[in-house]
Amino acid sequence: MLTILVINSKGGSGKTTVATNLASYYATRKIQTAIMDYDPQGSSIQWLRVRPDEALKIHGANAAPAKGAIPLRSTHAWVPRDTEITVIDAPAGTKGLLLQELVRKSNYIVIPVAPSPIDIHATADFIKELFLFGGARTSGVKIAVVANRVRNSSSKVYEALQRFLNSLKLPFLTSIHDSENYLYASEKGLGVFEMDKSATIAERQELMPILKWLNGQFPDRFGSRLEDEQADLEGSRTFSVGTQNFTVLSTTGRFKGYP
Ligand SMILES: Nc1ncnc2c1ncn2[C@@H]1O[C@H](COP(=O)(O)OP(=O)(O)OP(=O)(O)O)[C@@H](O)[C@H]1O
Ligand SMILES: [Mg+2]
Repeated sequence: MLTILVINSKGGSGKTTVATNLASYYATRKIQTAIMDYDPQGSSIQWLRVRPDEALKIHGANAAPAKGAIPLRSTHAWVPRDTEITVIDAPAGTKGLLLQELVRKSNYIVIPVAPSPIDIHATADFIKELFLFGGARTSGVKIAVVANRVRNSSSKVYEALQRFLNSLKLPFLTSIHDSENYLYASEKGLGVFEMDKSATIAERQELMPILKWLNGQFPDRFGSRLEDEQADLEGSRTFSVGTQNFTVLSTTGRFKGYP
């Protein structure tokens, strides 16, 4: 089983939005998927509650720690035995022992960051904490950062963060824009990959670099279930964060195999 941790100590950065969309995507690829919600607010569990009966099943585990307690049970104790991917939705403000525990459980960490200077500053501090006290340096976990709720993708606010990430050799994968489709999906218990394709092309494209990065870490793991997507990722497009341009993925306009 692979475990993807979506985390940032800053509240409201998009952890639940990214976690639920990743889980929904892997479910559409017929991969046995679970979400572990460590947040006492239970947003991912709530998302699962409103998920339509006919949607592909995602197992939900409410792993929110009781006040002051750190749940040390292994992930296998929370999710069905045949789970292939577990996405962990972390609470805001995670630090100390809980942070260490989540890092220890995870193979990949995705850090969403909103475009305000305060969010960016807090995220840089969080990444330092992740390395200095969270055990990320020794655990071998792979880490990437994504911008979320971006209104102007050429916004200069990310430049300092970008320099910081470069110094740590951490990838900045994509810019997720502020879109009603994410709100709609969260209300309906869906991900954008389960919504009308023609209405969600932009969202699919901007999430693709995250999936490409993740899937590239385990290319042979899920066989043909991820093959279509690999074909769709030929070619390239660029997006900019600050003054830097990034080449990320194809824009063939078609995403074979997605509903
Ligand atoms: N790209 C986006 N476009 C539009 N709305 C978004 C986007 N990302 C997040 N939101 C909305 O912003 C709010 C906060 O997002 P989300 O719940 O994903 O953040 P979070 O980091 O999980 O918050 P918390 O720290 O409280 O757990 C939610 O209402 C969500 O639907
Ligand atoms: Mg949340």
